[in-house]
Amino acid sequence: MGLFTKKPIHELILDSSDGEKGLKRTLGAGNLIALGIGAIIGAGLFVRTAAAAANNAGPSVALGFVVAAIGCAFAGLCYAEFASMIPIAGSAYTYSYATMGELVAWIIGWDLVLEYAVGAATVGIAWSEYLNKLLNLFHIHVPYQWCHSPFEVCDDKVGLFANQFGVHGIMNVPALFIIFMLTLLLIRGTKESAFVNGIIVISKVTIVILFIVLGWSYMVPANHIPYIPEASKYTDGQGVTHNFGGIWGILGAAGVVFFAFIGFDAVSTAAQEAKNPKKDMPIGILGSLVVCTILYILFAHVLTGVASVNDFRTAGKEGSVVYAIQTYMTGYGWLANLVTVAILFGFSSVILVMLMGQSRVFYSMSRDGLVPKTFSNLHPKFHTPHHSNWIFLVLVGGFAAFIPGDIVGDMTSIGTLFAFILVCAGVWILRITNPEIPRQFKVPIVPVVSILGILVCSAMIAGLGWTNWARLGVWLVLGLVIYFTYSRKHSKLNNKKKG
Ligand code: ALA
Repeated sequence: MGLFTKKPIHELILDSSDGEKGLKRTLGAGNLIALGIGAIIGAGLFVRTAAAAANNAGPSVALGFVVAAIGCAFAGLCYAEFASMIPIAGSAYTYSYATMGELVAWIIGWDLVLEYAVGAATVGIAWSEYLNKLLNLFHIHVPYQWCHSPFEVCDDKVGLFANQFGVHGIMNVPALFIIFMLTLLLIRGTKESAFVNGIIVISKVTIVILFIVLGWSYMVPANHIPYIPEASKYTDGQGVTHNFGGIWGILGAAGVVFFAFIGFDAVSTAAQEAKNPKKDMPIGILGSLVVCTILYILFAHVLTGVASVNDFRTAGKEGSVVYAIQTYMTGYGWLANLVTVAILFGFSSVILVMLMGQSRVFYSMSRDGLVPKTFSNLHPKFHTPHHSNWIFLVLVGGFAAFIPGDIVGDMTSIGTLFAFILVCAGVWILRITNPEIPRQFKVPIVPVVSILGILVCSAMIAGLGWTNWARLGVWLVLGLVIYFTYSRKHSKLNNKKKG
């Protein structure tokens, strides 16, 4: 009844011809790894690590990174096969429309809003935290109520907001500001140049390595004991109770810091620009994952060694990395300043990639008739989907301004984990239903890799707890209601079939 209608691959290629035609095959494995790292390192590392240590796992957050990396490696292999099957630039949405049918494609496309739009809001909120660290150099900061959501109350007795203890948040103005500025940039049309991306990648990797190397000798063994805290419950300053310590603590932390890996799928969207996709795509995807995993584990180990869990629950809760340097690494004020500036630029580039990814997915969905035409309306001069950008400014800006970072961060994680599960399952299903489609890259030992990917990602979803399951459930139900009341009726493919 149309639910499983598949978009013919030749049509996909035709559709994409206006935007994608003539993309030059210029990217080698090294460029693809850099592209991945540029899209990966961001708020997950510099903000969510401390949150996971405080709320879930203490020092064993480093083990959380290991679990998350394993899940990403399996899913990454599956992404690489998907990307190599359909020879155009695209995302999980495009791949699934051609292979698994409209309903699954809709679910993935809708779910990707959590990854891209809600993810951009999370990084915007993280940007706001580090902006305050920068302003603090000039002895000013944005008052608590104007850089926090209405769902947050100041519980800081000794840090930046000590004199505002008990104050309620109203609106996160800096987070809204950066989303607004980057939306304007996006509307004017920006293709982040390889050169700018290169500089951002180098500066991000440099500050991570500097922190690991210089912070190593400032680690206090006591901060790492016990490495895996005993299983218990921890209620944070906002009244939310988390599983702390033990295996559930590690899985919860893995779900939280999984955010730090989001973006490697960006490499898969460059399939058409790779010189030798068969070899370079898996190297690009897995190579950027390996580099980031090594850096992340070391970084988490040093961060939780330099500052204590208690710090991350109190004064070091926001801008945690800069807090740790300023408080415990005497003489390294310059490093704190360098880290702050690099983070602000680095976060901006992640937000840009996410906002761009969001408008690209909805552009395709709109061309397919699954969401209204306005999402593919192009600006007469800049040729960018400006209506879409304005609409998402309202959504992303709304999330950034009014919802706490912990909530949007975990929603991003759970939504992306769900998309990864569908991708892992999809690769397996297609090996059975469409073995004839040529694949430039094949995942080894299917279905073992698919099953392991599904299991590890599901374990992280389990670790994120029922409030996040409920949020994901509500989001998906909302998506299905829209699909059955609007998208199905307007689907171009369905109408073509009927007519
Ligand atoms: N991985 C990206 C980040 O951590 C989304 O900001």
